[in-house]
Amino acid sequence: MSNQHTAKHTPLYRLVYVSQISYLALFDPQLFKKITFSALKNNLKRNLTGVLCFSDGYFMQYIEGSEQDLTNLKNTLLQDKRHHSFQLCDFSLIEERLFPNHPRGFVVIDKRHQMSDSLLSEFVPLNPKLLDLDRKMELIELIKKHELMEDEFNLSWWDLIGLRIRLAFQLFSSSVSQNQLSFIFEICLFILACVALVMMALYF
Ligand SMILES: Cc1cc2nc3c(=O)[nH]c(=O)nc-3n(C[C@H](O)[C@H](O)[C@H](O)COP(=O)(O)O)c2cc1C
Repeated sequence: MSNQHTAKHTPLYRLVYVSQISYLALFDPQLFKKITFSALKNNLKRNLTGVLCFSDGYFMQYIEGSEQDLTNLKNTLLQDKRHHSFQLCDFSLIEERLFPNHPRGFVVIDKRHQMSDSLLSEFVPLNPKLLDLDRKMELIELIKKHELMEDEFNLSWWDLIGLRIRLAFQLFSSSVSQNQLSFIFEICLFILACVALVMMALYF
């Protein structure tokens, strides 16, 4: 039996998950390049197709292929420290591929998409953790309809800086308590007051 024939009859599955970018990954300037590179290389080899979305620190991936390849990918993803809070949303049998020609599409969902389609703009700003599976699939279908997939994540230098500052602040404030925050604030005020006193003493 030829490979092509076998591939035709291998049952197709889809994997949908959401996750959040990790603190570690935020400070890797090559992060998106590295993910793009290994995803393209490996998915082509395994005949996995789909789309990986990124929005404001969240990843959402829709990917289709054989059950074994998807299970292997899921296990790899679970160990990847560049994201966390991995939430499996669906792993089920499908009839046919949604993205037959895309070993990997990447898309950044942000305010750029607000104007392109009224249905699409309902998803911006995007927090995929708040969408149920049907809504996630609606978004995936819209991405396909508007062909928003690109060969790499298209984030400007400015977007990246803003994202890093915002997420670093969110992660910092979620890891320290209210008391610790006010303690840090008081220490900063104290240091400022000391600097002001020293400057006054030097000036007069
Ligand atoms: C959000 C996210 C999505 C990823 N998607 C894929 C993917 O679709 N295919 C893939 O092979 N690796 C993907 N990776 C990378 C894998 O976790 C892993 O690093 C990679 O498969 C290792 O393969 P390599 O050693 O050949 O680079 C993804 C990583 C992250 C953080």
